[in-house]
Amino acid sequence: MQLEDIAARLGVPFEDVERVHRLAGDLPSAPLPAKADAPALLDRLAVRPDDAAEIMAGWPDPGSPLWTEELRWLLDRSIALVRADLGGHGWLLPGPELPRDRGPAWLHLYVYAYLALTGVVLAYHRERGIPETVSWATLADLGRNLAIDRRMHREGWPVMQAWLTLHARGGLYELGRLQYQRGGTALDLHIPESGPLTPDAVSASLDRARAFFPRHFPDEPYTAFACGSWLLDPQLLEYLPEDSNIIAFQRRFALEPYEEPEGLDADVEVLRFVFRTLNTPLDRLPRDTVLQRAIVDHLRSGRHWYIRRGRFPVQPESGPARPPRTGRS
Ligand SMILES: CC(C)(COP(=O)(O)OP(=O)(O)OC[C@H]1O[C@@H](n2cnc3c(N)ncnc32)[C@H](O)[C@@H]1OP(=O)(O)O)[C@@H](O)C(=O)NCCC(=O)NCCS
Repeated sequence: MQLEDIAARLGVPFEDVERVHRLAGDLPSAPLPAKADAPALLDRLAVRPDDAAEIMAGWPDPGSPLWTEELRWLLDRSIALVRADLGGHGWLLPGPELPRDRGPAWLHLYVYAYLALTGVVLAYHRERGIPETVSWATLADLGRNLAIDRRMHREGWPVMQAWLTLHARGGLYELGRLQYQRGGTALDLHIPESGPLTPDAVSASLDRARAFFPRHFPDEPYTAFACGSWLLDPQLLEYLPEDSNIIAFQRRFALEPYEEPEGLDADVEVLRFVFRTLNTPLDRLPRDTVLQRAIVDHLRSGRHWYIRRGRFPVQPESGPARPPRTGRS
């Protein structure tokens, strides 16, 4: 089938299909797990029963009429595209954004790709001596994201389908409360929605990262922890109490000068993380917590939220050695 036909049948721009073709070329794909093993695998990946049922219903069985030629092409080449960057840690689109309301194959195509890549990335982890518990904790972000996708009525998926390629390439690890994205000399921190961000849980996670990366990625010398997030917007200080977890998290970082993030509207990102919606009118959003009220009141007064970047050293500074004080000198 010609690329033009594939694009037309998928209902996506030609350039997106051409990009998949260019990046994946003839590179090897990876097989899906056996269907009989899928329920147990989905369970390990923290996929909830309603999402798992949908995934099983759309399973790409060899003769399944749900899987037309163009969908099979995209699934196979998307796996190859992501697999070709195994070990990579940059943001990567696995393929075009699909019209997901056309049926279960369309809805979860990139989930099937993730399941195929699970075997590949587990082998990558094993080569680096990464404990299985870390592998599964990391990969189980799939279930968390699918549940959020459902809560968001599928609005959030275009970001998630790219986000999950980090896990599938060995570019990101979940160690306790935080996730760590490899890259450069700084480990980028990400904060999953998994309960309160208590200072103790953050400190324990940072300590795990301090041991994990030198052990499993000894050739990557990390000197800083970094983060780019709405959570680091100092305007939150105007609204949240001093003892809030978000403020305590902010205090760990030295902020970098503000730079407009490419292609992201921070006001919308805040709605994503605080309300799990992207375009509900402000007067219809809940006002249950101090943060929810702050987000809405701030926007209604015509102000904006910002995604700020900050960092702090991996090794806490011990400070300059001071000579002992003697008398009045
Ligand atoms: C980061 C996160 C764990 C912080 O939650 P927390 O530990 O409860 O934070 P705080 O102690 O600072 O909370 C202060 C207040 O804000 C509320 N709050 C915090 N995060 C909230 C959220 N995402 N939605 C609604 N309310 C929230 C708390 O309930 C509390 O209000 P209350 O005293 O009226 O109950 C939470 O915001 C979250 O799960 N966010 C989603 C993931 C995310 O944003 N990641 C970063 C992506 S860049």
